Amino acid sequence: MTKEKLPVLRDAPSHPGPKGVGRRDFTLLVLGWVGTLGSMLAASAGALRGLVPNLLDEPNLRYRAAKPTDYLDGTDSFLDEIRIFIQRKGNGYRAMSAVCTHLGCTVSPDEKTGRGFRCPCHGSVFDEDGRVLEGPAPTPLPCYELSMARDGRLVIDRDRPVSADRYLMLESDPDSRSDTTDPEGERA
Ligand code: FES
Repeated sequence: MTKEKLPVLRDAPSHPGPKGVGRRDFTLLVLGWVGTLGSMLAASAGALRGLVPNLLDEPNLRYRAAKPTDYLDGTDSFLDEIRIFIQRKGNGYRAMSAVCTHLGCTVSPDEKTGRGFRCPCHGSVFDEDGRVLEGPAPTPLPCYELSMARDGRLVIDRDRPVSADRYLMLESDPDSRSDTTDPEGERA
């Protein structure tokens, strides 16, 4: 009686990934592809974003204030909403920032001396033209371009700094006109 040879069972070899790459290496390869693809998409989106005009998220830096007659001669009128003083000297008008150039606190007229401005946070002192008299503020308070809108209101352009000696000069005494006024002002 001949012995029948029984088949020998062995573990099947694990199936390699493409091009002979093992399963673990294959997974890492796929993750690498996904990462690269994600980076390429992000870069493309950034490039396309640069082509779209930036119309939506830029703040409006033009501010329409009140009419010249609302600002008394010789005063610094504080516009709370934009932290700017409108300063009037006769027929001349100037818009000066009230934001301290040290760390951004709001300065106020210096009650100690009755002239210029003082910062309540760390004590910087500025003269009437915004120049630093005492630090730690590193630079003067900036002034911004003032113009007149068609409806007779003052317009401050915070995108256009000007030197402190630049006043908007009105040809005639604004107080001699019979304008109606809006003391609150609004955005241009
Ligand atoms: S924030 Fe004005 S002195 Fe510091």
